[in-house]
Amino acid sequence: MTTTTLITGISQLATPPTPGPRRGAAMGDLLQIDDAAIAIVGASIDWVGPRQEWTGRTDREIDLQGRAVIPALTDPHTHAVWAGDRYRDFEARTQGASYEAILAAGGGIRSTVRATADAAVTTLTALAAPRVAALVASGAATIEVKSGYGFDPDAELRSLEAIAALRATTAARIMPTLLIHLPPENLADRPAYLRAVCEELIPEAARQGLAAAVDVFIEREAWSPDDAVTIFAAAKMAGLPIKAHVDQFHAIGGVAACVAHGALSVDHLEASGDLEIALLGSSDTIATLLPGVTLHLGITAAPGRRLIDAGAIVAVGTDLNPGSSPLFSTQQAMALAVRLNGLSPAEALTAGTANAAAALGFNDTGALIAGSRADLLVLADQDWRSAVWTLGASPIERLFIAGQEMQQ
Ligand code: NIG
Ligand code: FE
Repeated sequence: MTTTTLITGISQLATPPTPGPRRGAAMGDLLQIDDAAIAIVGASIDWVGPRQEWTGRTDREIDLQGRAVIPALTDPHTHAVWAGDRYRDFEARTQGASYEAILAAGGGIRSTVRATADAAVTTLTALAAPRVAALVASGAATIEVKSGYGFDPDAELRSLEAIAALRATTAARIMPTLLIHLPPENLADRPAYLRAVCEELIPEAARQGLAAAVDVFIEREAWSPDDAVTIFAAAKMAGLPIKAHVDQFHAIGGVAACVAHGALSVDHLEASGDLEIALLGSSDTIATLLPGVTLHLGITAAPGRRLIDAGAIVAVGTDLNPGSSPLFSTQQAMALAVRLNGLSPAEALTAGTANAAAALGFNDTGALIAGSRADLLVLADQDWRSAVWTLGASPIERLFIAGQEMQQ
């Protein structure tokens, strides 16, 4: 016999009204119910509505005594697997060196690769586990983790194995992405490296079930849109959806290439202009904001407001990584999207829930409706807006993932 748990005492329930991607003005439309209740059966939501309308059987009641409830968050973009640190870069930037100049001089991402590429899988997993735990504590029930600090195919596969092993350390759903990050330094034969990526690494990662998507960093210091299109073709052959880091520092045609090839998401967009905004406004490719980068590097904020006004599907994530965004809170990424990217609180909630899940291809989480996974957050406050208002402390009191309460 199934057990029904009824959560009551919900002062305010706020959720996107449907799961799946929501675009433009619809991002601001939330379903709000005062004095709500949620019935959970197993891992799923069975019913949501005003408390007095529940007529079903209740086996167990959890009375929240006047707390707001929202869907648990999805973090659609992290680089949680790295070794070493970037404290030197951090200090150098305070003395005027730019992120791009540090990278061009062989530091930055390349220094993290030197520290990560030779690390054992168990070491990488042990380093990443507390980072993922921090994201979960900040409200994320689904988390994407990228490889990308290995470069050579074996090292990338080891990073992906470390990501797979993370699953044993957390109740959160972990989605692995193979990131084709930068061409290695002093690369004598770029086409040969790209061939190895396309003909060996991508098919092998797919064959072993170690990657659920392929991401490419499209930037002057990294891969061109043409290189990316070559990589996209290999990803499609392997049956993997594509994502890309695009327009972080320069808009070099990445958005157009990604939209033309049906990318699941384009992430960053700090340097996007009218053309890119118009393209994303009428595309199903999700525009993912990473405001931690704007905060940490002091670069222009991605045009979140303009993207939504143009009709785009906008998501938000931490981009947790040691170089451009040491942001260990998915909730704060959402909160920063309000301050830095011009989103309203309701739009930020949609960006961090339904749209962030959609950026990973999920429509079973991110909205509190019957049939969805019971992934939800109980806030300490009675008003749901505390979830995007709060900075520097956690507004979250309790977290349920797939119907199970996490011990925080
Ligand atoms: O998303 N810019 C490309 N990749 C990462 C940063 C990685 C790093 O600096 O270590 C990003 O910003
Ligand atoms: Fe990133």
